[in-house]
Amino acid sequence: MVKRSGLIGACLALLLGCSTATGPVLYQRLGAEEGINAIVDGLLFEIEHDERIVHHFADSDIGRFRAMLTEQLCDLTGGPCQYSGSTMQQSHTGFNITLADYDALVEGLIKVMQRQQISITDQNALLALLAPMYKDISYR
Ligand code: HEM
Repeated sequence: MVKRSGLIGACLALLLGCSTATGPVLYQRLGAEEGINAIVDGLLFEIEHDERIVHHFADSDIGRFRAMLTEQLCDLTGGPCQYSGSTMQQSHTGFNITLADYDALVEGLIKVMQRQQISITDQNALLALLAPMYKDISYR
């Protein structure tokens, strides 16, 4: 029998969106808003210093890219956000993004997550959420 205080605690945790029956959602494990912001800023830094892919962003509104990616990662990982940007197909059409470009960006993302001391399990959980997007992002 669940004690009443335990039940209230569980309900509060659910209301705060910080846990499920299997533990904290990925959003929380990545450091919630602060952690996701740091991942996105770190990734922007990596892209800016990666001559293999930086040219793709030459004419882009980086402020919008930053805001939309932050919102998307928050949404995808179970955070309190709803992605409001374009579809991956819409936003990447015409950039001729190759598998090598995609791998370069993911390499940057992994570097950032390692710097932030995100566990390998959580790194892989985020990468697994992003992997299916490849088909919409890459040039066909
Ligand atoms: C996991 C992979 C990726 C994710 C989750 C992702 C996500 C996003 C998001 C959320 C946006 C903003 C959409 C909007 O403005 O509404 C965006 C735009 C953009 N992405 Fe990606 N992206 C990925 C991979 C890549 C790769 C590999 C490249 C190129 C190397 C790339 C290049 C761009 C560019 C250039 C824009 C700006 C487009 C514009 O100027 O309108 N993305 N991406």
